[in-house]
Amino acid sequence: MTAQTELISNDIHAYLKMQEEKGMLRFITCGSVDDGKSTLIGRLLWDSKLIYEDQIAALRADSKRCGTQGEEIDYALLLDGLQAEREQGITIDVAYRFFSTDKRKFIVADTPGHEQYTRNMVTGASTAEVAVILIDARKGILTQTKRHSFLVSLVGIRNVVLAVNKMDLVDYSASRFQDIIEEYTAFAAELGFEKICSIPISALKGDNITSRSAKTSWYKGPTLLEYLETVQVADRTINQPFRMPVQWVNRPDLNFRGFCGTIASGRIVPGDTIVVTSSGQTSRVARIVTMGGDLEEASAGDAVTLTLEDEIDISRGDLLAAADDRPEHADQFAAHVVWMHEETLLPGRSYLLKIGTASYPAQVTDLKYSVDVNTLEHHPAKKLDLNEVGVCNLSVAQPVSFDPYLKNRSTGGFILIDRFTNATVGAGMIKFPLRRASNIHWQAVDIDKASRAALKGQKPRVLWFTGLSGSGKSTIANLVEKKLHSMGKHTYLLDGDNVRHGLNRDLGFTDADRVENIRRIAETAKLFVDSGMVVLTSFISPFKSERQMARDILEKDEFTEIFVNTPLEICEQRDPKGLYKKARSGQLKNFTGIDSAYEAPESPEIEIDGSEISAEELAEQIVRELFG
Ligand code: ADX
Repeated sequence: MTAQTELISNDIHAYLKMQEEKGMLRFITCGSVDDGKSTLIGRLLWDSKLIYEDQIAALRADSKRCGTQGEEIDYALLLDGLQAEREQGITIDVAYRFFSTDKRKFIVADTPGHEQYTRNMVTGASTAEVAVILIDARKGILTQTKRHSFLVSLVGIRNVVLAVNKMDLVDYSASRFQDIIEEYTAFAAELGFEKICSIPISALKGDNITSRSAKTSWYKGPTLLEYLETVQVADRTINQPFRMPVQWVNRPDLNFRGFCGTIASGRIVPGDTIVVTSSGQTSRVARIVTMGGDLEEASAGDAVTLTLEDEIDISRGDLLAAADDRPEHADQFAAHVVWMHEETLLPGRSYLLKIGTASYPAQVTDLKYSVDVNTLEHHPAKKLDLNEVGVCNLSVAQPVSFDPYLKNRSTGGFILIDRFTNATVGAGMIKFPLRRASNIHWQAVDIDKASRAALKGQKPRVLWFTGLSGSGKSTIANLVEKKLHSMGKHTYLLDGDNVRHGLNRDLGFTDADRVENIRRIAETAKLFVDSGMVVLTSFISPFKSERQMARDILEKDEFTEIFVNTPLEICEQRDPKGLYKKARSGQLKNFTGIDSAYEAPESPEIEIDGSEISAEELAEQIVRELFG
């Protein structure tokens, strides 16, 4: 019986109090089933006696029936649920397991080690302070060891245990152990780990897991559990400067205004000067309020409500920070991005970026390269697929406050969210702000959009035609322009085929290029609108995201989406340029409607079928509806 199980039966209150006060360590185990990862975790749970009697009985029976260890207990079976999912190929989230010893509480993140589970591993590792990297002593450093180590370093873990497992199968050879350490140390030099602790173990036999093994008398370091119980990690966030994202503003009556949130890093006492990073306004902390009464001090991890000495403007999403040690504040920065979704990351597409408690539209403006997670080599890239890691520049709709991720994991990390499905599609780690952004200001000019429009006697706007190739958009748009022209309107028609001869001649028809095509058109249309013109655009513009982006960058009543909804069969019959025929015969790839998607608008302002009545009549209809 351990001291804690004794306490549970004798004095449950004392036990609960002890649990409350014990420190917590989060760690991740990296490796595959073959490396003995399940056995290792099972062994830790077993030896810390956190398995119930009935589980033990079942485990004994299962081990005999289907275990791989003969008469001995197969600890891996404890984690069998997860394995079963894996065999069926179900997408698995991270399994978190809890156990505790007399000295500490632990949460271990258990994720599959295969490359297709990179996103799970990154998720599990992002909150861990220590990584246990398992190596099979017979096999040494493998590709997956390198991949796991890279991902662990990417998410900012600085303490690594190199658990050289299956030492029993190499006769507990000290020289084999040494060779592995040397090879690993050389490889890991560029990964920035602070400390690597190498331990020779056998998860199966229990060597150096919770008790020191007589078979490795040459090894003088700690057992795995000793290491996990004593490794110093907590200081890292507390010793950082004070940061607290504001979750909400509590204003029950006129006399109280408190800012609620969880302290992300550092500590705070009443009297400290803080800055609201978005406005630069400063004040001093008056009180630190909690449910249990005011505190004299609070630190990283504490959920608190702060009141300030001055009335200053603060809202949800703001970051409060130490006034004498401020974070970066910029609308463009460089970051590592791990892509976590089946739908590809496309530069130029608008995503929602969530950092702290703030969310803003953002786009990847420049994908510099992707990193091969197995070799760490850099490759030129135009997109990122599921589980790929890239280095890119991002541009956010508003300046955000952050610290470089390597300095502060909680204020330097962000996620990207799909704006239509709300799914988390990527995770990012900020490297540094891009200064060029802060040195360019919008040049104020005296003649503005309103005065240009007034001179032309019209309301500037965009008529955005979208539809398949051959749907008739260009024909109709051309007729609409003629009618507007004869009405004395100042117009300009941007047409797909024409613009692709000049401004966008460098772009093809991959998804990434189409996104960039439409981004440039939207920006160009916006400039024309600013000049007071009525702009007509005629592009397939197949993706919802980019049409939404075009809508978003214009004012509310400036954007009219016109969906030319001509059935594919008709477009294909018309085939004015013979492109459908080429696409059907495989000569032309990525053709919209054939082997490239068209996402139909859900609620366009105008929807017409280009096959029902003549283009002339349709144009007449549009003009009447919008300018009649
Ligand atoms: S978009 O998808 O990026 O909006 P855009 O409207 O500029 O396309 O260009 C479409 C025109 O390019 C079509 O009308 C057609 O004439 C031509 N084209 C050439 N290849 C393709 C292709 N693979 N898919 C669609 N259109 C193509």
